[in-house]
Amino acid sequence: MQDTRRHDMAQSLNILVIEDSPVDRKLLDSMLNESGKFSQINIVSSFQEALAHINKSVYDVILLDLDLPDSRGEQTLVELNQQYPLLPIVVNTGAYEDDLGLRTLGMGAQDFLIKGKYNAYTLNKALHYAIERKNMEMQLKLAYQQLKETQTQLIQSEKLKIVGGLASGVAHEVKNPLATILYGVTYLADNVKAADKNYDKVLSSIKEATKRANSIITDLLDFSSITKLEKKSVKIVEVLDKAFALAQHALDKKYVEVYQHIAENLPLIEIDQNRIEQVLVNLILNAAHAMEESGQLTIRINVEVIKETLPFYKSLNEEFFPKATKALVLMIEDTGCGLPEGKLNTIFDPFFTTRRSAGGVGLGLSVCKNIMDLHQADIILENKESKGTRAILVFKI
Ligand SMILES: Nc1ncnc2c1ncn2[C@@H]1O[C@H](COP(=O)(O)OP(=O)(O)O)[C@@H](O)[C@H]1O
Ligand SMILES: [Mg+2]
Repeated sequence: MQDTRRHDMAQSLNILVIEDSPVDRKLLDSMLNESGKFSQINIVSSFQEALAHINKSVYDVILLDLDLPDSRGEQTLVELNQQYPLLPIVVNTGAYEDDLGLRTLGMGAQDFLIKGKYNAYTLNKALHYAIERKNMEMQLKLAYQQLKETQTQLIQSEKLKIVGGLASGVAHEVKNPLATILYGVTYLADNVKAADKNYDKVLSSIKEATKRANSIITDLLDFSSITKLEKKSVKIVEVLDKAFALAQHALDKKYVEVYQHIAENLPLIEIDQNRIEQVLVNLILNAAHAMEESGQLTIRINVEVIKETLPFYKSLNEEFFPKATKALVLMIEDTGCGLPEGKLNTIFDPFFTTRRSAGGVGLGLSVCKNIMDLHQADIILENKESKGTRAILVFKI
């Protein structure tokens, strides 16, 4: 939670008064000095001068006249509020402008005063009130943001549940007919000869199509049915080697150089070996698909202490990875096309793919996420500073 300073009426404040009328300036100066709780009172007469001051020092509160020579009325307030959203502002407006005063509250002011209708005491009170109200506004904003994030997560997990249920229903129904087709085609190819010269070609394309459908269905079932893990203490490097062996065919299609930077003496981790292998295969395949003719695939494995300076710290689930604990971090970096712009939150959605025409189904990353969630581990995908994508897996040790 953001640090929201509490303050009290006895606290001395730094105040910036923006007021061009000499009479009002004098009056304000004497009122502020009378209440005697200000460690610094600066009075400026133009908006530009005010900006220069605000950039130089830290102010607790601004008292703003709406009628300045270089910036008019409400515009001043809106600009100030946009540029310095944390600064409490009290508007000081002309006599009989109560309606205007009230309107300024909707434009970012925390309170308003009507000239000629306040004294040192009420001025002082309004300034403190503004600070407190700003504090509360910020807290409310933060709480709202958190609420929205939680809501998005909830919607996401509901969505996954529904898709999961649907998928497994359909997948079970479709798997058997597919097996029958595959069996039939294999039988025909092996035992029945036909005169038509396209016969073998047709059979083999049916077989290919059926196999592809079958692998999609298997992914779907995986996506919805992975609910239990069989964990063992294993060496991540061994799992990685197996994953590379399985993904080799995709790497061989292109000229991909593989680099491995793996720390020595890595600890064992408690994982479901087959599932994590599946995650790694998916990520390696995605990397291979993202690279055109050639590219580099770099694997890094290290033990890291969780701290704010880790570049991916903000994306970590605090619950799984509290500060100062250790984690095993595995990165897969490619030099491919990079993640689709503006879709970073969508890539884990089931069926999201930008590779549909090339045979993408969009289940790979959602399966990965499922598996990592079950391990109470994190998966993060980000675009690298240079060309390409970085997938980061973070495991408890
Ligand atoms: N390494 C990567 N580089 C660029 N984009 C990627 C990478 N990995 C995943 N993506 C993006 O995420 C999408 C979803 O990936 P995934 O769930 O594995 O499905 P699929 O591979 O079937 O498209 C991809 O279509 C692609 O847009
Ligand atoms: Mg994929």
